[in-house]
Amino acid sequence: VVHGGAPAGWLDFSANPNPLGVPTQVRAAIDAARYERYADLDAAAAEHHLAADAGLPPGWALVTAGATEALRIVADAWLRPGRRAIIAGPTYGEYARVSTSSGAEVIELRARPPTFRPPVGALVRALSAASSVVFVCDPNNPTGRRLVPADWRRLQQVLAARPTGETRLVIDQSFAAFAEGQLPAAQLLASDRVVLVRSLTKRLGTPGVRIGYILGPPRLLAPLRVYRDPWSVGAHALAAAHSASWVLTPTERRTLARWRRDLSDALRRRGLRPLSSTVNFILVEVGAAAPTLVAVAARRRIAIRSGASFGLSSYVRLAVRPPAEQARLLAAIDAAAEAEGELRASQGATQA
Ligand SMILES: Cc1ncc(COP(=O)(O)O)c(C=O)c1O
Repeated sequence: VVHGGAPAGWLDFSANPNPLGVPTQVRAAIDAARYERYADLDAAAAEHHLAADAGLPPGWALVTAGATEALRIVADAWLRPGRRAIIAGPTYGEYARVSTSSGAEVIELRARPPTFRPPVGALVRALSAASSVVFVCDPNNPTGRRLVPADWRRLQQVLAARPTGETRLVIDQSFAAFAEGQLPAAQLLASDRVVLVRSLTKRLGTPGVRIGYILGPPRLLAPLRVYRDPWSVGAHALAAAHSASWVLTPTERRTLARWRRDLSDALRRRGLRPLSSTVNFILVEVGAAAPTLVAVAARRRIAIRSGASFGLSSYVRLAVRPPAEQARLLAAIDAAAEAEGELRASQGATQA
């Protein structure tokens, strides 16, 4: 059976659900979900809980079947032929897919290696343009880069200046739960043109359950509701949402930080170049040997995400996973290094 990520039975370093597994209370809530009848149509109780969990009043959350449905909803509602989707790249491919299927023109503003700092100046200019939807993934998949408070101030200033038309800023925070030092949602939503998209499937480690949400002012969220299909969020997903907290426990945080540091250190010792990361995946510059690494790992039933689909063919993205799994990954990297001579990323071999 082939799953969304790796084939069954493989070690999966290619997808990024919470490696610490499903929180006990969420598992119990999913197990107890009543699926012999339709789930709540308006999902009000779960939405109330998710808004409160984000420190927001009722009416500020819209629950969706994963962040995937949230992205499709904003594109259906806000994009159409003649409008523009501006995407901060290189990034997750769904923004382009949903924008294209809404008939919008897609423009990617790409961050540059080696730092991949978000292209905030270009985003500010894009936000000043009429009738566009700007998508920013923060922290960004696959680079792990984040908007710093000064970036947020610049984006909010331009939105406060009331650009003409229906300009909207969509921030995909699907991996923000894992990052340190997040700004509170209420502060990020100071402008009434911003929404936050969140994936609970990453935070909870439940990608098979399909649960995400949009946070934003009721003025923006209320019209989005009609774009959600009835009961797209099923009983198990609502039960998970209602019992979940977006915030990681201190133990989860400490453990993840240790696993991330151990993996980065081990990669550096092998001459590879992991980008600094505060989340549960790391983008690694491998050089011309990146395809060899992916292939050698696959022969050992280890899935690694090549950077090629992001236009980063000399990079791979590795999930942060437990020590025993890291040991198998590192053995595969050593085998690939032997196969290739050296995996060391050389300046010349780097292409992005
Ligand atoms: C940045 C980003 N946003 C959204 C999603 C989709 O999340 P969900 O499983 O909640 O639909 C993913 C999944 O890989 C992702 O990487």
